[in-house]
Amino acid sequence: MQLTRRSPSLRSGPAGVPKVPSAPALTPWVAFAREFLRHPREVGSVLPSSPALGRALSDSLPVRARTVAEFGPGTGPITRELLAKSGSNVRIVAFEIDPHFCDVLSSSIRDPRLIVLNRPAEDIVAVARELDVVFDAVVTSLPLVNFPVPVRNLILQAAKDALPSGGIVTGYTYTPYVVPRLMRETFGNCDLRFIWRNVPPAFVFRSVC
Ligand SMILES: C[S@@+](CC[C@H](N)C(=O)[O-])C[C@H]1O[C@@H](n2cnc3c(N)ncnc32)[C@H](O)[C@@H]1O
Repeated sequence: MQLTRRSPSLRSGPAGVPKVPSAPALTPWVAFAREFLRHPREVGSVLPSSPALGRALSDSLPVRARTVAEFGPGTGPITRELLAKSGSNVRIVAFEIDPHFCDVLSSSIRDPRLIVLNRPAEDIVAVARELDVVFDAVVTSLPLVNFPVPVRNLILQAAKDALPSGGIVTGYTYTPYVVPRLMRETFGNCDLRFIWRNVPPAFVFRSVC
């Protein structure tokens, strides 16, 4: 399903029919590299994540998680792993600011459990209200180290505000310093796990609200 706020290239189908991209989607890798060249700070990486990293993130989620927010799905390598591990009653709400990635995502993953929003992660509390859901977990791919400090703080605080006690925030980063420190400052705890099978190798972090 695609819900969008400001993607001009998407058009609506009849009621009940998912919206479809108005132009053929590029292959995910080409789309990813192109968007990196256009918006290097927001995209933060030249290559999409590996399936191994996606599996490590989905393994960090609680078994009982029913409604999961994904921040920055890009072309969807992590989204696919989350969906592969999830049951039929799970919903993944993907927050992606880049409308081209929203096009790629909705044309390449047709799954009724996925809701693609062309909205920023910062909107998570408002989206929870609009969709009338309680998120159990947040999976973030945002390159927080590239963001100004107030924006990083805003995003992590929004995740904290949206999650109940016991909710999980997990994501990845390429060094064990900046983001894990921010996670400890915001949530009071942060576990790290090193994943070799990604380019570059990454640290998966996990905090409990
Ligand atoms: C490092 S890429 C990760 C893409 C994909 N999840 C992966 O692992 O390959 C970061 C993604 O975050 C998106 N992004 C950046 N700032 C955002 C924000 N404030 N809200 C939602 N998405 C954002 C970018 O457009 C990009 O798709």
